[in-house]
Amino acid sequence: MEAEISAVILAAGLGTRMKSSLAKVLHRAGGAPLVEHVVRAALAVAPPERVVVVTGHQADQVASAVARFGVRTQLQAEQKGTGHALWVCRGQAGLGSGLLLVLCGDCPLLSPDTLRRLVEAHLGSGAAATVLTARLPDPRGYGRILRDAAGRIEAIVEEKDATPEQRAVDEINSGIYCFDAAALWPRLERLRPSPVTGELYLTDVIGLLREDGLAAVPFPVADPSEVLGINTRADLAEADRILRGRKARALMLAGVTIERPETVLIDPEVEAAPDAHIGPFAQLLGNTRLAAGARVGACSILANTVLEEGAEVLPFCHIEDSRLAAGARVGPFARLRMRSTVAASAHVGNFVEMKNSTLGEGAKAMHLAYLGDATIGARANIGAGTITCNYDGFRKHPTTIGAGAFIGSNATLVAPVVIGEGSFVAAASIITKDVPPDALAIGRAHQVNREGWAKARREKEQKS
Ligand code: UD1
Ligand code: CA
Repeated sequence: MEAEISAVILAAGLGTRMKSSLAKVLHRAGGAPLVEHVVRAALAVAPPERVVVVTGHQADQVASAVARFGVRTQLQAEQKGTGHALWVCRGQAGLGSGLLLVLCGDCPLLSPDTLRRLVEAHLGSGAAATVLTARLPDPRGYGRILRDAAGRIEAIVEEKDATPEQRAVDEINSGIYCFDAAALWPRLERLRPSPVTGELYLTDVIGLLREDGLAAVPFPVADPSEVLGINTRADLAEADRILRGRKARALMLAGVTIERPETVLIDPEVEAAPDAHIGPFAQLLGNTRLAAGARVGACSILANTVLEEGAEVLPFCHIEDSRLAAGARVGPFARLRMRSTVAASAHVGNFVEMKNSTLGEGAKAMHLAYLGDATIGARANIGAGTITCNYDGFRKHPTTIGAGAFIGSNATLVAPVVIGEGSFVAAASIITKDVPPDALAIGRAHQVNREGWAKARREKEQKS
């Protein structure tokens, strides 16, 4: 494509039908705000400095949602219609020539591929405007495409202004267009407010082009679900379903096994290598990455987490900002957070919480433990019920457990404390002092046995 391409994304509206205090384009589907999907599609055909997002409602939040893509924004202080939204961009550099794509911030399912085809169709036909259209079984709520005998667009009528015959037309306006910029701007200037709503309709540009002998042609989209405009929360849920489905499908085609793919939630930036395995109802969020052969069990939620080769998360775990090295195994029912690391072949079992902690190679914490701010050496064994007391009410303190140490069940390790390599902490000990390497530490009351005591008590109680 040699023509210079710009894109304007209309995203200033509040979206009344969402019944929300949050601007519509900031609602999330497929793991990202609606507007982000549209920006990504635009960036497939236009460089960031030629992409302009029109903001209005919650302009600052919308601008920060798209800032990392390097696109520009244009404030439309008052929302006076789609034609007006485009008109306020007239001062933006570079939009005066070449091709100008217009996209809607509430239309997140549009694929980059379709956008490329729209541009090709536009260049091929030589029309001044090409409108992405769709034939819908239920066209309600959309503007209708009125074609002339030659198949060009005569006009686009909004549903509220349409006659019954026009409403019967099933070809709709997606709100996505490709214009010759030089033909567009003079007509945009001539738009007049709708007598009904007082808004400037971008769709009226088609009639003005025609008056001047310039053609607008329809380009029907192959998959009508791509032009779904989000107006309600029900539409939002439908868009989310479709976007999640696309992500799961892309991973499956790249060699990832997903059980019951319709149940998983995988964010756009998640990566998974071939032969990774994802169980039903898993959620992979943020920058999570799965290496080859990594496995995520049913109903586990991983955010910004890395699983190296063959690492496994069993069902029902919640893991954030953490890393499992090759062959590590975690779960079921484990919680890892704040940069926790499970080294190669180490195991974390059920009802174990790790916070900002490292479990060394081959070490084990199999049941019911809290490991906070702890560094645990290779092959150490953390008994059931072990608690690192890392917080004194004011500050967090570290616990260090040396390689090969054995921490007996129900030990309470009061930080800061160092447990030496190869040492042994007796079950139920309260450890407040460092333990030397290879030592035994017992920190508990001595056991006393009183012969016959229980029997005597029983007999006494039975007599009275
Ligand atoms: C518009 C089209 C309609 C098409 C439909 C597709 C017009 C007049 N109608 O109708 O033919 O079938 O999209 O979804 O264009 N916006 C602004 N500033 C404004 C008004 C709107 O930025 O002043 C933005 C909105 O935030 C939204 C987009 O433009 O992202 C579309 O606006 P909306 O009010 O939803 O238009 P529709 O009534 O759906
Ligand atoms: Ca709409």
